Amino acid sequence: MLRTKVAIIGAGPAGLLLGQLLHAYGIENIILERQTPDYVLGRIRAGLLEEGTVALLDKIGAGARAHQEGLVHDGIELAFGGSRHRIDMKAATGKTVTIYGQTEVTLDLMNARRAAGLTTVYEASDVKPQDFDTDHPKVSYVKDGVSHEIACDFIAGCDGFHGVSRASVKPSAIETFERIYPFGWLGILSETPPVSHELIYSNHARGFALCTMRSTHRSRYYVQCSLDDHVDQWSDDRFWDELKRRLDQEAADNLITGPSIEKSIAPLRSFVAEPMRFGRLFLAGDAAHIVPPTGAKGLNLAASDVHYLSGALREYYDEKSSVGIDGYSQKALARVWKAVRFSWWMTAMLHRFPDTEGFGARIQIAELNYLVGSKAATTSLSENYVGLPY
Ligand code: APR
Ligand code: PHB
Repeated sequence: MLRTKVAIIGAGPAGLLLGQLLHAYGIENIILERQTPDYVLGRIRAGLLEEGTVALLDKIGAGARAHQEGLVHDGIELAFGGSRHRIDMKAATGKTVTIYGQTEVTLDLMNARRAAGLTTVYEASDVKPQDFDTDHPKVSYVKDGVSHEIACDFIAGCDGFHGVSRASVKPSAIETFERIYPFGWLGILSETPPVSHELIYSNHARGFALCTMRSTHRSRYYVQCSLDDHVDQWSDDRFWDELKRRLDQEAADNLITGPSIEKSIAPLRSFVAEPMRFGRLFLAGDAAHIVPPTGAKGLNLAASDVHYLSGALREYYDEKSSVGIDGYSQKALARVWKAVRFSWWMTAMLHRFPDTEGFGARIQIAELNYLVGSKAATTSLSENYVGLPY
């Protein structure tokens, strides 16, 4: 039987970053991933990194490209009532965010793993975490029709929302909390320069819109849509028209349109599973929690989880202490819930809900006016947006 210290399930950002952090601490690990590398790299997700996330990439020697190609932003713009208002996050907090696609982060992590000569088994099917309530956990899987088992000290479930790790825990041991939002985000990617050099979050009677980017020549735009919508109902022309209607006049006039190179609809959800540890199985990233994309906290939360988890495992091996692993769930969840709250609050303030009629809409505008006019409120938004400390 194969043996390793930590068997990691899932080679998304959480699993890959955890693998490199453990490697940096001299803790051997194997990653099992259901898909192919190309499939994993083809998933388009948000692209905003907190300083803490960039620091973790630096720590494992995979941050060079994020520094070279990432765009450092000092602030954001909020559009409502026909005009735009800038929030200077750097002035409020001294911190910035880096715009750098999650696909690029994943590629950098994959390359770092390959360079370190670490094992990743792609196209591993029927992956099953087992015996994690004993001192001898193992993970079984099938590769090319052959069954295998890996004996390990710990299992890290980094296999996303639909993964097998959380599903392997007996229902009585886990409590889940969920909110489903009654709308989705229709997103497109286009080879056009961004409409503004910073992100624009727009609250509009027709629904939320977001102007973001991947680089100075590639833009990412989103509009709130109905959950019943299908991408084929959204021609590029219809998308651009709708986006323009939801922006202030200046932004609408400056918007450069072009053919979409990707178009997809994503539902919005808040979800948290408690606890994040079950004996010798730990959950990290989307396997344990989901946030709506407003504020782009998903990847950054995966990063803080694996920071805590790798530190706890280092303590276990180097200092023969279980204090870290015993405290992991509580420590991670404290930060997770703050980001869940922030993402929920941003979502509530900026979107049209079925019951956002007169009163709800006025409350949103009052809140936005308060936000841009109050130093305390601006600071509160900013410190959450740039990322709360670890
Ligand atoms: N066996 C093996 N691998 C699996 C299994 C399984 N049964 N189920 C899922 N996986 C893999 C998926 O194919 C995926 O590559 O686990 C990986 C999980 O990656 P993500 O879904 O990207 O989750 P995570 O690494 O936690 O990343 C968090 O990335 O997904 C975004 O919105 C998310 O931004 C957030 C961040
Ligand atoms: C993105 O770039 O895709 C993005 C940025 C900020 C968000 C959500 C998505 O709040």
